Amino acid sequence: MGVVITLRGVSRLYGSAKALDDVSLEFAAGGATALMGQSGAGKSTLLHLIGGMDLPDSGEILIEDRPLPRRGLDAHRRRVGFVFQRFHLLPALSVLDNVLAPVLPYRVDFDRKARARELIEAVGLAGRERATPGELSGGQQQRVAIARALITRPPLMLADEPTGNLDTATGQEIVDLLMGLREQYGMTMLIATHNPELAATCDRVLRLRDGRVVGDDRLAPADDVLDRIGRLG
Ligand SMILES: Nc1ncnc2c1ncn2[C@@H]1O[C@H](COP(=O)(O)OP(=O)(O)OP(=O)(O)O)[C@@H](O)[C@H]1O
Ligand SMILES: [Mg+2]
Repeated sequence: MGVVITLRGVSRLYGSAKALDDVSLEFAAGGATALMGQSGAGKSTLLHLIGGMDLPDSGEILIEDRPLPRRGLDAHRRRVGFVFQRFHLLPALSVLDNVLAPVLPYRVDFDRKARARELIEAVGLAGRERATPGELSGGQQQRVAIARALITRPPLMLADEPTGNLDTATGQEIVDLLMGLREQYGMTMLIATHNPELAATCDRVLRLRDGRVVGDDRLAPADDVLDRIGRLG
């Protein structure tokens, strides 16, 4: 369930500035970790490196003990679901087609449409398959983006401020949805966030500052969080 992620001495430089500075970490399979820290701390940089969207300048990243290659990262990216602050949906496409978009270029061994419909239902949007993003609220658009991220059944979900563009109540619904899906599909989850309530639903909170890890707390899930996740199932 999920994948183990290991970072060994990972640095990422922009000029002489270190966006990440010699970071070594391990993330347990199936864990949910919040990445916190001020703007510029290196949260997005860390997610991009783990997701194979950027390359470290030094150090290495291992997924299930296998180092990520520096080339040919497509196969890895297909095992990662990415959710962004600004939902990045394609405005001219329907909900169904947005969810299908990541797998349209590939030959796949599953029924794309059946899976897309199942995911649309799992995120609470059954019946809205033909709507376009402009017809949906922000929270609904983020639900579509989450369904899209799951179309390859990724063992790893990366979310970069997934509630950053949403009001508090809607953000909380999205948090509960993500945590419920993590349980349901068995994913390792990393979430960059400024939202303390979101962080409190994770089982670990990492704090970054100036590209370094300055805090690493393991949390026991609160009862109300367990209740809410239970209610989703
Ligand atoms: N493409 C880039 N070119 C130059 N510098 C960059 C680039 N991307 C990130 N940086 C720098 O790397 C550092 C870390 O940035 P990063 O985006 O990872 O921070 P963050 O923790 O995600 O911040 P925020 O909370 O604002 O999203 C910052 O100093 C930033 O200016
Ligand atoms: Mg960021």
